[in-house]
Amino acid sequence: MSPAGGAALAPAGATGTATSHNAELTPRDFAAIAAIMHEDARIALSEAKTTLVQSRLARRLREHGLSRYSDYIALIQSDPKERHAMVVALTTNHTHFFREPHHFDHFRETVLPVLKRKQGPIRIWSAGCSSGEEVYTIAMCLLGTDRTSASWLRNADVRLLATDIAPHVVESVQRGFYAEQAANGVPEPYRSTWMRPAPGGFVMAEEARQLVTAKVLNLFEPWPLKAAYDIIFCRNVMIYFGDPAKEELEDRFVNQLAPGAHLYIGHSERLIGPAASRMRSCGHTIYQRPEVH
Ligand SMILES: C[S@@+](CC[C@H](N)C(=O)[O-])C[C@H]1O[C@@H](n2cnc3c(N)ncnc32)[C@H](O)[C@@H]1O
Repeated sequence: MSPAGGAALAPAGATGTATSHNAELTPRDFAAIAAIMHEDARIALSEAKTTLVQSRLARRLREHGLSRYSDYIALIQSDPKERHAMVVALTTNHTHFFREPHHFDHFRETVLPVLKRKQGPIRIWSAGCSSGEEVYTIAMCLLGTDRTSASWLRNADVRLLATDIAPHVVESVQRGFYAEQAANGVPEPYRSTWMRPAPGGFVMAEEARQLVTAKVLNLFEPWPLKAAYDIIFCRNVMIYFGDPAKEELEDRFVNQLAPGAHLYIGHSERLIGPAASRMRSCGHTIYQRPEVH
C-alpha cells in the first residue's frame, strides 16, 4: 500500500502545537496515546512523532465530532472498538512488490529447490503483511515465470499465510487488487503471467490467490498456528517495536520454524536476544534455523 494508504511514521519535527487543521495534542495526551500503542500493539512511539500522530488522528476526531484530544482519549478508554481503530490508524502500511529483492533471489535460488523436493506440507508466513504485495511476491516466486514452472504446485500442499493487525490491509490481500502504479513494480514475465488487467489496475491470478490465506492477527497475541513453518517473512514490522518486544517476537518466530527453515527480516533489522544465537546467518537479514543432527 502506498504512503497515501498509511504514511510512514517518520520522525516529525514540531511537537504539541495547535494548527488550523488539528486539535492541540499536548505531551500528556501524546503520552496516553503512546501508552495504548505500546500496550495493544507493542508499537513504540517517540515524541518526535507528535505532529504525525496528530495528522493521522485528525480524521478520527472529526468522525466523532470532537475538537479536543482529551475528549478523544476519554472515548478510547471506554470504547474498545475506537481504541482498536486508533491503533490501526497509527500503523504504517507502506510496502511494495519485490521489496528488498535480494530476499527473493535467495528464496528462488536456495530455498525453492529444497521446497520442491520436500515431502509433506510447505508452510510460509508473511507476518505483518500489509496489503499483500509481500505474500503475492512470494506466491509468484513459487509459481515461477510461466505456467509450466507452476506445475509442481499441483501435487504439493503449499499454504501461504498473510497476517496483519490492520483489518483494512487484510481485506486488500483478500481482494488481491493492485493499482497500476503498484503493479508496475512486478517484473515481467511475472506480471503478465500472474496478474490480470482489471479496471484501474490488476488483480492477482486465481493460481496465486488460492495459495494465500489472509487473517487479522496481532503478533503479540497467541498464534493459531499448528504447523512448523518452512519460511517466515517478518520485514519492516519489528522496526516499530522496542527491544524487549523484538526479542520476544523473534524467539517466538524461531520456535515456530522447522529445523532448516528460514527467517527473512527487514533491511535495517537484526536478530537480538536468544534468537540471535539460535539462528545461523546466511545472507544479509536472512537466517536459518539449524538442522537437528
Ligand atoms: C511497513 S508494513 C511492512 C509490510 C511488509 N512486511 C513489507 O516489508 O513490505 C508493517 C506492517 O506491520 C503491521 N503491524 C504493526 N504492528 C503489528 C502487530 N503488533 N501485529 C501485527 N501486525 C503489526 C502494520 O499494520 C503494517 O501493515
